[in-house]
Amino acid sequence: MSVTPILLVGAGALGSSILKGFRRSGHISPSDVMILDLKPQGEAQSYGADGAQLNPTPEVWARAKTIIVAVKPQSWRDMAKMLAGKLDPEAVLISVMAGVRTKDLAEVFAPVKVARVMPTTGVATGKGVASIYAADASALEAARFVFEPIAATATLSDEGLIDAATAVSGSGPAYVYAFARSLEKAALSVNLTPADARTLARATLISAARLLDETGEEPDDLIRKVASPGGTTEAGLKVLCADGGLDDLIKATVEAAFKRSQELG
Ligand SMILES: NC(=O)c1ccc[n+]([C@@H]2O[C@H](COP(=O)([O-])OP(=O)(O)OC[C@H]3O[C@@H](n4cnc5c(N)ncnc54)[C@H](OP(=O)(O)O)[C@@H]3O)[C@@H](O)[C@H]2O)c1
Repeated sequence: MSVTPILLVGAGALGSSILKGFRRSGHISPSDVMILDLKPQGEAQSYGADGAQLNPTPEVWARAKTIIVAVKPQSWRDMAKMLAGKLDPEAVLISVMAGVRTKDLAEVFAPVKVARVMPTTGVATGKGVASIYAADASALEAARFVFEPIAATATLSDEGLIDAATAVSGSGPAYVYAFARSLEKAALSVNLTPADARTLARATLISAARLLDETGEEPDDLIRKVASPGGTTEAGLKVLCADGGLDDLIKATVEAAFKRSQELG
């Protein structure tokens, strides 16, 4: 199966993150990429300088084997008017747009096969998170080929689960940033200087995440290694987790995001 050349439609926040991820992983080279964007900037421009084709003619982009659609959901029908009927019938279209169903895309782009991916902008670091859904095997294979080198992936068995994945990993980075903000504020309340509060809160989060990643250990095991009986961590955790406190708060957070994702879809 050939996935290149790849046509990226929309090189905004997420499209540019995907390009940065390709650059880091090296599994897709700039010369295998074409970019359509209304005002290409930053990463799209530097891809252009490295051999990608920026806003090529329809005769050129029509040769794409994989099309990644990364425009805002409200722009997709305009974008479809430009592309539909002109794509290679053997191509796969990967939509990263929130809330746009594969059924609607397939109706417009048939016989092109469709996959949906919900990535985080962390793909820019080569260590993003992406949920993938495709009813068609070749579309699934193409989506995995593109995203597995730049993200931890989950292949969903049902498109409806995209809303659940959005609530967990799509919105998830913001929950973690909110935790960092709270830890920093709490550090100030125990008299650390603003500079120290900032350093300690952020570095704690990053080093804990690294250990979780690198050791592969369960959170409970890592907690046990930090919290000795009767010690300071145990005293803190008793407040954080008392009466299901943190569990209940995170559950309610994810459920609210899940509901909103369903409403927007
Ligand atoms: N950002 C995230 O964290 C994230 C995460 C998961 C999924 N998504 C999804 O990814 C998609 C893009 O989000 P984003 O945050 O990257 O939005 P964005 O920054 O607004 O990027 C969209 C880009 O597409 C361009 N564009 C619009 N219509 C076009 C067309 N017809 N042809 C070519 N280019 C066109 C826009 O140009 P102009 O700016 O000139 O209009 C812009 O550069 C959305 O559907 C969103 O649901 C985003």
